[in-house]
Amino acid sequence: MPTKTIRKAVIPAAGLGTRFLPATKAVPKELLPIVDTPTIQYIVAEAVAAGVRDVILVCARGKESIVDHFDLAGELEAHLERTGKLELKQQMRDIARMAHIVTVRQQEPLGLGHAVLCAKDVVGDEPFVVMLGDDVIDAPIPGAKQLADCFGRHGLGTIALMEVPREDTHLYGIAAGSAVDDRTIRIDALVEKPRKDPPSNLAVIGRYVLPPSIFEILERVRPGVGGEIQLTDALAILAREEGLLGYRFQGERYDAGDRFGYLKANIMYALKRPELAGPLRAFLSGIK
Ligand code: G1P
Repeated sequence: MPTKTIRKAVIPAAGLGTRFLPATKAVPKELLPIVDTPTIQYIVAEAVAAGVRDVILVCARGKESIVDHFDLAGELEAHLERTGKLELKQQMRDIARMAHIVTVRQQEPLGLGHAVLCAKDVVGDEPFVVMLGDDVIDAPIPGAKQLADCFGRHGLGTIALMEVPREDTHLYGIAAGSAVDDRTIRIDALVEKPRKDPPSNLAVIGRYVLPPSIFEILERVRPGVGGEIQLTDALAILAREEGLLGYRFQGERYDAGDRFGYLKANIMYALKRPELAGPLRAFLSGIK
């Protein structure tokens, strides 16, 4: 029987981050912090909480510092040791021990589907989770774990869904289908960024637990919206040929790839820090 355990995560991280220039001119957008922690560290922590051991970063030129972030930093640790900052030293060490990081290169920006396909040989013949770094999910049960659990129950690929206002449907992959339970649908329609007649207002959010058969499908999809190989188009084929579930996850999602979404994430995560919550609330309520 094929395994239902999710041990590998694919994180596309090859984008140029043009929505965040000039910050991303020299710094990968994945390293921009929410409070004091790079966005990608939240994503990797979420993967680990879902049982992932191998994180496959799909990188491009200039993204090497992401890998450095998850490596041991001997000199820094020695300095923290000398200066008595032992807790901080341990925190730095823990980051390097979170997961086994593997990188593959996407040599040309041919789309999200193409980025996922670049991880084919490293993923091999097992289910895996794709996690988009722009979507930060704050939830009591980590988003990827909610999907992995749904996949474990049903044995079908499962993607994250969230209701959005009708006027925003053109910004997302949009799914529709028949109810399996309160939170789960069996998908029968899936369209990337519909310009008109969206099949619903259920948007795809960047967490996808997928069977390895998606790779063979990605090899045959033709360029779609924006001339790119779209993951959504491959998922529509998967839904038809094998079945695909959509899961309305519990939790708050922030679009950290958008300036306003990024600011909101910073405020909400800062409010969870005991040392920042009080002063930040006082500051915000004092703004005229
Ligand atoms: C990607 C996907 C889209 C999905 C979105 C979620 O789009 O192509 O289907 O709804 O992520 O954040 P992007 O926002 O990268 O253009």
